[in-house]
Amino acid sequence: MTTPKRYLVTSALPYANGLKHIGHLAGAYIPADIYVRYLKAQQRDVVFVCGSDEHGTAIPIQAMKEGTTAQSIIDKYHPIIEQNFKDLGIQFDIYHRTSAPIHHETAQEFFSVLNNNGDLEIKETEQYYDEEAKTFLADRFIKGTCPNCGHDSAFGDQCEKCGKSLSPDELINPISTLSGKAPVKKATKHWYLPLNKHEDFLREWILKEHKDDWRSTVVGQCKSWIDGGLQPRAVTRDLDWGIKVPVKDAEGKVLYVWFDAPIGYISATKQWALDNEKDWKPYWYDADTKMVHFIGKDNIVFHCIIFPVMLKLHGNILPANVPANEFMNLEGDKMSTSRGWSIEMDDYINDWIKKDNGGAAMADVLRYYLTQIAPETKDSEFTWKGFQDANNSELVSIFGNFVNRTFVLMHKLCNGKVPPFHNDLIDDTDKELIANIKQTTATVERLLEDYKFREALFEVIDLARKGNQYLQKKEPWKKVATGEQQLIDNSLHLCLQLTANLAILINPFLPFTAQKMLHMMKVVEKMLEWQNAGSLNLLRTGYSLRAPELLFRKIEDEEITAQLEKLKQKSAANRQPSTDNQNEAASAKKETQNLKPEIVFDDFAKIDLRIGTIVAAEKVEKADKLLKLSVDLGFETRTIVSGIALHFKPEEIVGKQVTVVVNLAPRKMRGIESNGMILMAEDQSGKLHFVNPASPINNGSTVS
Ligand code: 2FM
Ligand code: ZN
Repeated sequence: MTTPKRYLVTSALPYANGLKHIGHLAGAYIPADIYVRYLKAQQRDVVFVCGSDEHGTAIPIQAMKEGTTAQSIIDKYHPIIEQNFKDLGIQFDIYHRTSAPIHHETAQEFFSVLNNNGDLEIKETEQYYDEEAKTFLADRFIKGTCPNCGHDSAFGDQCEKCGKSLSPDELINPISTLSGKAPVKKATKHWYLPLNKHEDFLREWILKEHKDDWRSTVVGQCKSWIDGGLQPRAVTRDLDWGIKVPVKDAEGKVLYVWFDAPIGYISATKQWALDNEKDWKPYWYDADTKMVHFIGKDNIVFHCIIFPVMLKLHGNILPANVPANEFMNLEGDKMSTSRGWSIEMDDYINDWIKKDNGGAAMADVLRYYLTQIAPETKDSEFTWKGFQDANNSELVSIFGNFVNRTFVLMHKLCNGKVPPFHNDLIDDTDKELIANIKQTTATVERLLEDYKFREALFEVIDLARKGNQYLQKKEPWKKVATGEQQLIDNSLHLCLQLTANLAILINPFLPFTAQKMLHMMKVVEKMLEWQNAGSLNLLRTGYSLRAPELLFRKIEDEEITAQLEKLKQKSAANRQPSTDNQNEAASAKKETQNLKPEIVFDDFAKIDLRIGTIVAAEKVEKADKLLKLSVDLGFETRTIVSGIALHFKPEEIVGKQVTVVVNLAPRKMRGIESNGMILMAEDQSGKLHFVNPASPINNGSTVS
């Protein structure tokens, strides 16, 4: 494959509506930063853009919660998030904002081109309107009962309990979250992107051209969207926060946030070019530019289907790859800032970098662990214990240990100078180490080009492990007594060249560590250029090096216990009713809304509830939330599909007794007929629990 002339790398623009957690960091930022640092070390022409997504309903909703304006929300969070990324070593070429005038102009121009070319459709539809607040209601401002699972606080775009995507029309008993009143229907006009007209292009481009080089999870999600039937998608909204629709008769209308946000990558590139006296156009128009979008899986449809259609219509290049990550859970549960079950970047920085004597090295520890458990092919899990183990058993004991031993021995046995290498004394162990250095360089390079960051990092650590094994085998300290200085020289010469190689290889992953190693070796930044990797002449014979510094420190059990305790407390605090008046009123309203209307005994008696035992459980293909269960009801064994896959692993629930609604009409889900429903209790943190007898009873027993 020929090397692209230039690269444009993007990371999803985070909403500037609150702090971002380490799950976000692992999904779209650390992998992108590793990739970019590697490309830059290769001397390639790369621009890495990101910035705040400052439109959409997420911002005014947060403003309502904080009792302030949308503008002050974005002005508060934009600089915090930008600084958090810097502290963790994410080195964007520009961290822009979608509230910037250049972005508004760029997005409006983009819309106008599509509109003037006749690529958008205008339709008038009836939409929900709040007569008291005198405004049309965005989907997120409408709540009601979910038609799928009966949850009474589903949003107009999605039920957060069962995960089903909804339209406001599907909600039962909708109410406006602005006034608490039932909204009315009113006619309104909107612009639509007719995705249905681009199905052939998308099939050809994603399902054929990129079937093998994109991640299968990404292609799979695109396929199910395309097979599910593409619909025209509204690209304008009735809202007073956003980018004005640039046509007459569009009073009170703004561009849909998902129309303007990805255009933010373009406006960020423009601003970067202005700041650096460069031309932005080749990055968006030349076919020899390789564009790569780093995102989390919830953004796949926007980056692989909607934005590419927009780019094609506008005459821009398309992404060469969209290496989307799956999700990272935390200590057995989904990460969620609102439920307090998360580790915010800001918290990590305060607890581990600012307060800690490890300083910036602790940024690298997080980068290391998040890459080691990166959810590249499936969801993964962050645990504080895993974090501690990764640091203590790998960074400290393998990587840090090798570098430290090499430096200590070099100072002790070679006067603090790079010893010469005596070619005539080279043996098979030396040759093997040299071969490993070259081999690892080639492998890491291939893996990074393929977006396999986890495996690439493993290879680097494995090379350090081989360095330790080499030292162990050579035992240069034992050769002092026998006076074999030349053999001591050879071992330490090779270990020092390996150390220099490790600095180059680790640099994309752990940039602070690489800098510290440069300092110890008294060499300049230039040594980190990728073309130097694999070389055995990185440190000149006779060159004197600095005293060793520890690269990483051990993490103690108490520090981990404190973090676990902090997490529990934060999650508990998020469950406490707020003392804030506005929130109190809202939760009081919610309390009453949670109660369903009264029913008579006969209504209840119609439901046939039985005890059963789950005898088999498996994931339903291509449905993240569904498990297919076989439940023994005593009189028969039934197949039941249940939306609990995010809460339980199949193997954990086999053998559990459950309560089943056995006379619910059968329903097909993902092609599987479900014959009943399992009752679940949801606690305040949103965690699900089975409803079952205190001790096992016969299957088929009735519940009344
Ligand atoms: O999901 C999100 O957080 C969005 N703000 C991502 C936008 S990515 C891009 F399109 F700007
Ligand atoms: Zn639901």
